[in-house]
Amino acid sequence: QFCDAGIGHGASTCGVSSSSSSSSTKLLIKGGIVVNAHEMEAADVYVEGGIIVSVRPNIKVGDDATVLDATGKFVMPGGIDPHTHLGMEFMGTETIDDFFSGQAAALAGGTTMHIDFVLPVNGSLLSGLEAYEKKSRESCMDYGFHMAITKWDEHTSKEMEIMVKKKGINSFKFFMAYKGSFMVNDELLLEGFKKCKSLGALAMVHAENGDAVCEGQRRMIELGITGPEGHALSRPPVLEGEATARAIRLAGFVNTPLYVVHVMSIDAMEEISKARKSGQKVIGETVLSGLVLNDSWLWDPDFITAAKYVMSPPIRVVGHDKALQAALSMGVLQLVGTDHCTFNSTQKALGIDDFRKIPNGVNGIEERMHLVWNTMVESGQISVTDYVRLTSTECARLFNIYPRKGAIRAGSDADIIILNPNSSFEINAKSHHSRTDTNVYEGWKGKGKVEVTISGGRVVWENDELKVVPSSGKYIEMPPFGYLFNGIDKADAKYLSSMKAPVKRSRATV
Ligand code: URP
Ligand code: ZN
Ligand code: ZN
Ligand code: ZN
Repeated sequence: QFCDAGIGHGASTCGVSSSSSSSSTKLLIKGGIVVNAHEMEAADVYVEGGIIVSVRPNIKVGDDATVLDATGKFVMPGGIDPHTHLGMEFMGTETIDDFFSGQAAALAGGTTMHIDFVLPVNGSLLSGLEAYEKKSRESCMDYGFHMAITKWDEHTSKEMEIMVKKKGINSFKFFMAYKGSFMVNDELLLEGFKKCKSLGALAMVHAENGDAVCEGQRRMIELGITGPEGHALSRPPVLEGEATARAIRLAGFVNTPLYVVHVMSIDAMEEISKARKSGQKVIGETVLSGLVLNDSWLWDPDFITAAKYVMSPPIRVVGHDKALQAALSMGVLQLVGTDHCTFNSTQKALGIDDFRKIPNGVNGIEERMHLVWNTMVESGQISVTDYVRLTSTECARLFNIYPRKGAIRAGSDADIIILNPNSSFEINAKSHHSRTDTNVYEGWKGKGKVEVTISGGRVVWENDELKVVPSSGKYIEMPPFGYLFNGIDKADAKYLSSMKAPVKRSRATV
């Protein structure tokens, strides 16, 4: 079942296939229903050299092409996960999934591209990027980068420019929480938002009030609550709502688009809804854990069971999950990521005596495509075309790489999945492909299985077998001024023209 050393439970039965995996492979996917964000059609898909060459019924090819039968199945763009942390140094440790193992897990679950967050090194964006270039060298699927901004001076501003103009990064994340490490204040947010606007880069926020989180944590410790439940109790939805509202208002004041990452609560979602209704360009990203889980496990008497659910913002009480699903289905929120940020049981145990030391993060990169299908499509909340939009196309559009990514059409990269709606999947830590030893979706079963994943024209997942190729993944440069920037200049001009001329006052009246 496992095909690569170091993947999943460590079994290495099949080795890494390379001969049959060249990207010059010719592939014909026959008889399926091709699904794009705007339409579905019965068509074949022909792939050559890693690129989709043709999408139409009854394509005929020579004997040298591999034929995949997709009768009764959906042929869709591979998933794009807009939010991951692979090989991240965080809270005194490093995520157990690096680029290679995290991406292998992703491919086994139908995700063919992800965008990871580069952390600056000693405040330097360039040093941070260099470190991530090293970390991602063995990549077995395509990936892009967001960049975190954790301090501010002229140098940061110059480096942001280099990132956008020379390094293919078009988004910057500002943490409003994690006081003492990544957290930024409103002054930095404003400077950062202005710079993002001038560069045509998307400003992203982790929206929680970090000062109030510290106060909440003090309260818990005073009450003697030191276990994982203290994590959720110390940073309630109101703190997420407040920071979301503040970031939205500041982005509105600057008139630049805003992307709110990991929206976990009704409170934050409603702020986004209000802003969008007023016409402000605000994007809300749900993550799988917030969409399908609730906080009940945090009260489990077994520490490791509870600690594996610790992430920030916290997974909320039952009710927020359903509200986020509804918001996603109605277009209030626009896409689904995972925030895949895995720590094993030993790492989670760093916080055995104090929830503040439990490394924050959950898995999801392998599970997202299945669980969004199961939760949203199987329940009738969204259509099959919506599914493609929410798991792939919208991310490609927002980060300005559509239609190279996020589409099944001639000229697009051959990142493709075949999903069988009548086949079933089951999730557990024993068989998953992440290196972590637990799974927050343990035991989940459902209908709708990704049976084949094609990455850059290679079949990398078929018959429950993974055939990943180290260093086959490409870094995808993302150009600035994506569609959210359309009209920004006109709105600026309108704002300026609405300003009255300065009132002329005579000195004599003083
Ligand atoms: O708990 C989380 N979300 N860990 C990853 C870092 C972040 O805030 O995204
Ligand atoms: Zn194998
Ligand atoms: Zn975050
Ligand atoms: Zn994150």
